[in-house]
Amino acid sequence: MRVLLTGGAGYIGSHVALVLLERGDDVIVVDDFSNSSPEGLRRVEKLTGGSIELVEADLADRAAAEAALADLDFEAVIHLAGLKAVGESVAQPSRYFRTNLNSTLNLLDIMRAKDVRKLVFSSSATVYGTPDADVDRLDESQPIGIGITNPYGRTKAFIEQIIADVQQAWPELEAVLLRYFNPVGAHPSGEIGEDPAGIPNNLMPFVAQVAVGRREKLSVFGDQYPTVDGTGVRDYIHVMDLAEGHVAALTHLSPGVEAYNLGSGEGHSVLEVVRAYEAASGREIPFEVVAPRAGDLAASVADPAKANADLDWRTTRTLGDACRDSWAWQTKNPNGFAPVG
Ligand code: UD1
Repeated sequence: MRVLLTGGAGYIGSHVALVLLERGDDVIVVDDFSNSSPEGLRRVEKLTGGSIELVEADLADRAAAEAALADLDFEAVIHLAGLKAVGESVAQPSRYFRTNLNSTLNLLDIMRAKDVRKLVFSSSATVYGTPDADVDRLDESQPIGIGITNPYGRTKAFIEQIIADVQQAWPELEAVLLRYFNPVGAHPSGEIGEDPAGIPNNLMPFVAQVAVGRREKLSVFGDQYPTVDGTGVRDYIHVMDLAEGHVAALTHLSPGVEAYNLGSGEGHSVLEVVRAYEAASGREIPFEVVAPRAGDLAASVADPAKANADLDWRTTRTLGDACRDSWAWQTKNPNGFAPVG
């Protein structure tokens, strides 16, 4: 298949590109490199022996999007492009809505004009907002859009709705919404991985930078939640499992719109992540408990049964595997993709 990855140079996109190339698909990436580097894709080419067609464009710019995609030939789109920093979205809501919604609207119009019917969208468990306290594993029948605490999360819920409405008007559209839980880890080679700009917002990249000595200690956001040890519980999914989930979704598309949770079904607390990372790295991770972070949930764990059954997909890698692979990436690339020095 010829697959277009929007935002394909990023953390998740580069791993999806690798899995597609290994399968023998053709990969085209469109990215504006606003939060990624072409170096990741160069490494994917080296790892796989494949080649990636790279187009630099900002899809939120209608004219640029049309110009970039007009002459490209592709049968399916995996739409990963978008801004994703929660705190930044609170400070710059209109930028988040404009970028994430306009890029999706432009893409959908271009797909329709070209009669490209296959779409996999990079959504997030954040669309479940603040679920009822008695729900311990989230399945796809949970209501979405209620109690979302930030504009980033709302862009994901809005885009899910936009895709559903577009499909009503264009019944041939075959769309899947993938609701990621917490992607972590890296390709086991340690050649590609997550390269956050500035201070990492997310737990595992922060822990990785503490382990390697780039930051002094981890701040644990609260230890009074009703969880196993009082710290927040999440469903951490190895990025290679997540990437394979995209390929599974691509091969099971049919007309309509379906949502799938991509998660392991298992929750781990912040302190469990710290211990797993210490075991994988052999380093101590100093931490200090601080106040809870605004908008955080006590726990968020997937029920992945629907994806297991319909997509014939399940996670096979553990939290320990993710820590080992994150550590390999971190030690080989202490400055991410930036040149050393
Ligand atoms: C966050 C976003 C979510 C987004 C996802 C991926 C919020 C409320 N949610 O999910 O919308 O899709 O990132 O980008 O921001 N923690 C610490 N110390 C840290 C960092 C995190 O204790 O320095 C804790 C958090 O309180 C949480 C867990 O670690 O319990 C995971 O946090 P994080 O990696 O930021 O992911 P989420 O908050 O689940």
